[in-house]
Amino acid sequence: MSTQETISKTKNYVMNTYGRYPIAMVKGKGSWVWDAEGKKYLDFVTGIAVNNLGHCHPNITKAIREQSKILVQPCNLFHIDQQGEFAKLLVENSFADKVFFCNSGTEANEGAIKLARAYGSKNGKYKIVHAKDSFHGRTMGSLSATSKNYQAGFKPLVPGFKPIAYGKMEALEKALQDEKVCAVILEPIQGENGVILPPDNYLKKARALCTKKKALLILDEVQVGMGRTGKLFAYEHYGIKPDIMTLSKALGGGIPCGAFLTTNKVAKYLSPGMHGTTLGGNPLAMSSGKAVLDTIMDEGLLDQTTSSGTYFLESLQRLKEKYKKEIKDVRAKGLILGMEFKNKETAKAVVEKCIQEGLLTILTIQKVMRILPPLNVKQKEIARALKIIDKALLEVTNA
Ligand SMILES: Cc1ncc(COP(=O)(O)O)c(C=O)c1O
Repeated sequence: MSTQETISKTKNYVMNTYGRYPIAMVKGKGSWVWDAEGKKYLDFVTGIAVNNLGHCHPNITKAIREQSKILVQPCNLFHIDQQGEFAKLLVENSFADKVFFCNSGTEANEGAIKLARAYGSKNGKYKIVHAKDSFHGRTMGSLSATSKNYQAGFKPLVPGFKPIAYGKMEALEKALQDEKVCAVILEPIQGENGVILPPDNYLKKARALCTKKKALLILDEVQVGMGRTGKLFAYEHYGIKPDIMTLSKALGGGIPCGAFLTTNKVAKYLSPGMHGTTLGGNPLAMSSGKAVLDTIMDEGLLDQTTSSGTYFLESLQRLKEKYKKEIKDVRAKGLILGMEFKNKETAKAVVEKCIQEGLLTILTIQKVMRILPPLNVKQKEIARALKIIDKALLEVTNA
């Protein structure tokens, strides 16, 4: 099917909820994708931090193929060996003792919110503090903890959510004076809000304050978990441990998969019947997820992410010097990188020019080019992307 046919079928039959670029990918391999006409793109969107091993990594393909021949979906009313296996691997590599599997990031956060409310319920604690520019998902609970930019048209939201400024300790201290707060939910690094890194010691102080106030600290690592920042989980950079962590995106290697992880101390607040899902934790997603985690470890991708991220960031800093008038800031942690433009017209034009030249990146909050290469990206692919970005900047600024 040609790209034009795909676009017209999508327009005619699929609900109009995405602002889509006029591209339809039909094939992917490693850092590359192809459209129906054979045009090839360097994919530094990676499904928005989903394809951390690139497209169609042989280990993931093998895991999916083999599992699909054996058993795809029994039922959570029975025991599932792949679920126990994958949970064990996640537990052994994190702060957590227990895992609940679901299907997406928003569901992982819904579950975390429910767990926090169950934890607080005996003491009348039910309020959830969240950052006002955050993104935690689109279902009603997660949406209530998300930036108001996504909430219009869906009110009333779930009561009991308190927005505060991200990175400001005074705001958190004030919010936690309320004894009814059962949890604080934060992204350790904000993705949708334009790759915002926490100020020094913010997460450490937030951790200490939550402990003091008997509020749970929920870290949403849906976008930055699974190696994206150069550590398996972003909290490891900050010398802290959350009470609950949520994951999805890269977790299942492209097969829908989400999870919330917690300690035994907190896990005990959910008992049989209080939370569940039909498809979550199915053997197909579990096998694919285990292949992702094993491969990240076996192929040394955490160190590679750190060194590739440093090279990429330093090169972007040089571009910032070259295009001082246009670029406001560049920032990164591992391979989540953001280039912030001074105005949104330039940002849009540069991202579009890059697409024309065969490089896919994401424009977020209108003025930040977010770059999410696979963790196993080759240095020459980063060099090629940098050349394209440089050329796009030159053409846009001279236009
Ligand atoms: C930090 C964060 N949390 C939650 C979500 C929601 O995940 P999903 O789209 O899988 O529901 C996203 C999606 O972008 C995210 O970036």
